[in-house]
Amino acid sequence: MNTGKIINFNEFRDNRGALISLEENSNIPFAIKRIYYLYDVLESRGFHAHKQLEQVMICVHGSVVVKLEDETGNQSIKLNSKSEGLYIGSNVWREMHEFTPGTIVMVVASEKYDESDYIRDYQVFKKEMLK
Ligand code: TYD
Repeated sequence: MNTGKIINFNEFRDNRGALISLEENSNIPFAIKRIYYLYDVLESRGFHAHKQLEQVMICVHGSVVVKLEDETGNQSIKLNSKSEGLYIGSNVWREMHEFTPGTIVMVVASEKYDESDYIRDYQVFKKEMLK
């Protein structure tokens, strides 16, 4: 799957409300090892790439602008829908900007947390990942 692709989740809506289900190797295109979520965000976040990790980012409340850079170029994607997931592959620099107050971003990840998988230095990313 290409980085920057939006996955549209099937919403089960009836007179009681709505429900969305995420399943590994189905509407999530990898085996799920970890889920985390961001909230009470006061400033831009991210500013790193991952060597192996794949993620799907879902803005379950509010809105956020996600900037991505990989060897194919730059993308800027506004997420503001519970039923959309943004796929981000490995070797992609990501930044999250313009969180509106109350925004909650849920991230579904293919690996457990591993600091050694991070590239936090943009110059290192440019040199190592884009060569
Ligand atoms: P950080 O990577 O700085 O967040 P962001 O990329 O959104 O700016 O992570 C913040 C802190 O949380 C840092 O101390 C590492 C820790 N952390 C975990 O322990 N587990 C996780 O799954 C994540 C994503 C972060």
